[in-house]
Amino acid sequence: MSEYTNTYQIEDEHYASFADKTRISIEKGKGVYVYDEDGKKYLDLTAGWGVTCIGHANPVITEALCDQSKKIIQNPNSGATYSPERSRLISLMQEILPENLTRVFFGNNGAEANDAAIKLARKVTGKLNIISMEKSFHGRTISTVSATGQNKHRNRFNPLIPHHIFVPYNDITAIKQVIGNDVAAVIVEPIQGEGGINVPDPDYLRNLSKLCAENNVLLIVDEIQTGFCRTGPMFLSNNIKIDILTMAKGIAGGFPFAGFAITEEIHDKIDKGDHGGTYSGNPLGCAVAYSVIKYILDNRIWENVEYVGKYIFTELKQLEKEYPNIIRDIRGKGLLIAVELADKDIAASINSKCLNDGLILNVIQGNIIRIFPALCISKEEMEEGLEIFKKALDGYD
Ligand SMILES: Cc1ncc(COP(=O)(O)O)c(C=O)c1O
Repeated sequence: MSEYTNTYQIEDEHYASFADKTRISIEKGKGVYVYDEDGKKYLDLTAGWGVTCIGHANPVITEALCDQSKKIIQNPNSGATYSPERSRLISLMQEILPENLTRVFFGNNGAEANDAAIKLARKVTGKLNIISMEKSFHGRTISTVSATGQNKHRNRFNPLIPHHIFVPYNDITAIKQVIGNDVAAVIVEPIQGEGGINVPDPDYLRNLSKLCAENNVLLIVDEIQTGFCRTGPMFLSNNIKIDILTMAKGIAGGFPFAGFAITEEIHDKIDKGDHGGTYSGNPLGCAVAYSVIKYILDNRIWENVEYVGKYIFTELKQLEKEYPNIIRDIRGKGLLIAVELADKDIAASINSKCLNDGLILNVIQGNIIRIFPALCISKEEMEEGLEIFKKALDGYD
């Protein structure tokens, strides 16, 4: 029985209510499982929104947190002093980032990283326009909402920051029509996440990079969702010439941390005071991010992502054939997979049946189940989730 008395009541009465909440109160987690206040076990196929990439309560994170918190959490004058933890992380980042992105900076969340990328792109180019993609998602601050290509996020905050131009995703011709002397940057997700897990043509990002270079426009690649092996490779922009890379989510396995990487050319054009933040590059976050990235590298996590990702994708494709009236499409890459259902009611019903049977899913855009578990999930654990999902499909009426 729960030792807590009134979690729901307190949150419902006093917590600002921005989310449509599920009535489940999570107390702890281990690996790919979480436990509610009453001890009920659930398989988590959401990884805390793509964040707990090496599992809940992974000892490497706990140890990094404990060890570093005993040394120092926040530097005096924060980013204006040096930190061995930060420098160790910076060195590791140099091993995994695209070669030309030689400068990194760390912050707290994805929106903040994108906000800085847009701000710096405008500053260093002296131009204002930013090209974004329809159905994109870049965050919830006023500037990142302005760069987000979905009306449901935008319209309620009008007027937004001007000078954002939207074009269809995966359409180079559309960008050619608007790219010009007044454009500072293009911002793009290599696979759109929240917008529906939309996978572009294989050469889309490379062609976009070429087009931006030809027009003297910066390319900002938002790898906040796709980074750190979510889809297999460390980044989808590896081996492609880009100017700014933004990262968050998996970077520190659930600890609030983020960053961006820029070229030396951009760095040459920034001035002291252009950016910063109280917690930027804070040693505690740096220690955790280091331990997570090291774990990813030491355990060659991308191999598991490819193995389990291929397994679940093939199984779901089979279900798509068996349930043509319920499943409309399966798409994605690695462990970022969309199960698009015929409508919102079906998605809500399957989601609640799965929850009842101990499986936590994430529904986006009303009718799409986004599967993005911890990257260390085993085939057997994924199989367990699949069985619960199949039961919910069978029982659908
Ligand atoms: C592609 C992308 N960019 C930006 C963000 C915003 O990140 P955060 O919620 O950490 O601010 C998200 C979050 O889902 C995302 O998926």
